[in-house]
Amino acid sequence: MTEIIKKPFNVREIREEFPALRQEIYGKSLIYFDNGATSQKPQIVLNAINKFYSKENANIHRGVHFMSQKATTEFEEARKKIQHFINARKAEEVIFTKGTTDGINLVASSYGELLTAGDEILITAMEHHSNIVPWQLLCQRKGLILRVAPINFKGELIVEEFDILLSKKTKLLAITHISNTLGTINPVKELTQKAHAVGAKVLLDGAQSIQHMKIDVKDLDCDFYVFSSHKLFGPTGIGVLYGKEDLLDRMPPYQGGGDMISRVTFEHTSYNELPFKFEAGTPHIAGGICLGTSVGFLNSIDLDGAQKHEGELTKYAEHLLDTFEGLQIIGEAKNKTSVISFTVDGIHPFDIGTLLDKQGIAVRTGHHCTQPLMDFYKIPGTTRASFAFYNTKEEIDLFVEAVEKSINMLK
Ligand code: ALA
Repeated sequence: MTEIIKKPFNVREIREEFPALRQEIYGKSLIYFDNGATSQKPQIVLNAINKFYSKENANIHRGVHFMSQKATTEFEEARKKIQHFINARKAEEVIFTKGTTDGINLVASSYGELLTAGDEILITAMEHHSNIVPWQLLCQRKGLILRVAPINFKGELIVEEFDILLSKKTKLLAITHISNTLGTINPVKELTQKAHAVGAKVLLDGAQSIQHMKIDVKDLDCDFYVFSSHKLFGPTGIGVLYGKEDLLDRMPPYQGGGDMISRVTFEHTSYNELPFKFEAGTPHIAGGICLGTSVGFLNSIDLDGAQKHEGELTKYAEHLLDTFEGLQIIGEAKNKTSVISFTVDGIHPFDIGTLLDKQGIAVRTGHHCTQPLMDFYKIPGTTRASFAFYNTKEEIDLFVEAVEKSINMLK
């Protein structure tokens, strides 16, 4: 295969592609540090959304007419682009979902049907609610046991404890690749090998990793990998469940409806083949196509350079904030990226977030859908700055200045 030589990553050039970054909030240039919640969209994706609804809107897999056939082709082309982007073996292994949460619920409902009372699901103490609650519901329904691997105060998984909890009873390891609250990058390849050694399957929650690192599902050897389009510079309401073909084939359908069937009678229904077996009803057609556009955009970028830039931003921000008295960074894993969560003695995160907002800086405050993690640190929440490759060191300087100003005002 010939390798395409890409232009070295250039943050100034990348920023030009994102119109949302060129606006003022309360008279200040926007500094968008809430990329963990959702990313901004490049012009090429905005154009693709407009083009689809202006000229190409039609339902897919159902019509003989020109527009339907064209939309179908584009939707299936997008699936192939995503397949190559994550290095899946086949396009059939790429299931369109509503997003990460939907993907996890699909696996919990469907793979969960293959499990029996007494089987165990292993998660970690740093999971997002969407990688906790679907398993709790499944455990209640099927009499399974949920185990939680603990973390240390730096926000790293305690691997020795993980090893003790992983056993022949474990049927699934469901783990976040990168923590949305701490930024911790889990050693998922190594953990996957350990899980496979005891016969467990592995689901990786890729909500925060898909936009920060090259994902190769073959190399990771995970059984499932889930992510959302909107964190990958694409539209909301669409995401992907990658699953190994043989496993997806063995799993029962998740939802019933049009497109997921092969033949329906009142007595019996047979199901469509992959990926359609898991895609009941009209999907988010524009979303799927425009996620493909976003993947095409990312393919044109030097992603290694982008990743390096994000790592530098994280270290730079941490280094500057570390000097503030009374400020604690929550999440100091050796291997982390793109997220800085912090608390300040005597000040509620919401108040800092509100004052930062008035200075044109968008951050997230609160528990970040990780309440058990907040309980572990005995805090109500954090202020979280989360970066994307279009952020700059200058923005971090302004952010740090604004944090200082906010603390002084609130003390
Ligand atoms: N899970 C997203 C976040 O961390 C919404 O903000």
